[in-house]
Amino acid sequence: MATPRTLASTAVGASPSLWDPVVRLTHWGIAASVLTNAVLDEGGSLLHVSVGWIVMALLVLRLVWGVLGPAEARFSAFPPNPVTAVRHLRQLVAGRVRHYPSHNPAGALMAYAFWATLAVVTASGLYLTGGATPMQVAEEKAAVASGDWSALIAEGGGESSEEDKSLRHTVEEVHEVAANLLLLLAALHIAGVIVEGRVLRRSLVRPMLLGDVRRGK
Ligand code: HEM
Ligand code: HEM
Repeated sequence: MATPRTLASTAVGASPSLWDPVVRLTHWGIAASVLTNAVLDEGGSLLHVSVGWIVMALLVLRLVWGVLGPAEARFSAFPPNPVTAVRHLRQLVAGRVRHYPSHNPAGALMAYAFWATLAVVTASGLYLTGGATPMQVAEEKAAVASGDWSALIAEGGGESSEEDKSLRHTVEEVHEVAANLLLLLAALHIAGVIVEGRVLRRSLVRPMLLGDVRRGK
């Protein structure tokens, strides 16, 4: 078993992780989309739905990459394990952290929490738009702007039962709560990246931006 001394020395001499282009693209694409949809644009707007569809595509790509991608990007490299995550956080508080070739156990839990919450946000978003693609949303908005409501009424948008309204209201709540949870997770995540980087005495952000910083890839 590793002693605190060996843990600390592993951390200091550790080489940076390598993140391939798919992990980097999906990471920054998802991060930018979450911030855009949770903070900058109007819920249900054409931009919001378009960004939402981009998130869905990035999420699917990352999940497929978790099975087919290189070793450090695979789920098998960072299994969800709350016990080792707590142990890792304790070691972090004590100023000693081991190097991991992929996400550390706490970072791994955070990644799964992000992906699960994103799945809830996108599924509820799809329900709210009736599965309409951004193109269909644009057409509907253009029709309504020109005074033609027939498209919405044909879809059942004109009349809905109390039950439908209450279900829609619940899904709206789920969508909004999950979006806020994403922001909370992001705040914890950024704090974790900063603290972990300080203890390891290397930037975790550089490999996520640049990939293989040792070989300048
Ligand atoms: C990154 C993922 C997403 C985030 C963070 C997010 C966030 C939010 C938030 C905070 C609201 C409430 C905003 C307000 O009241 O103005 C909202 C509303 C809405 N979102 Fe999203 N959203 C996401 C993805 C999606 C997707 C994928 C769709 C559909 C395909 C969607 C469709 C909607 C709709 C239709 C509303 C309006 C709901 C209503 O009628 O009040 N969202 N979203
Ligand atoms: C809403 C915003 C964000 C979301 C949803 C998010 C989500 C994620 C996810 C899901 C992962 C796992 C990556 C993978 O395996 O594909 C991750 C890792 C990472 N994120 Fe973020 N992130 C966000 C913002 C940021 C920001 C602003 C930074 C820079 C300070 C950052 C730095 C990192 C780093 C360095 C890692 C890799 C950590 C490690 O070495 O294990 N993230 N993030």
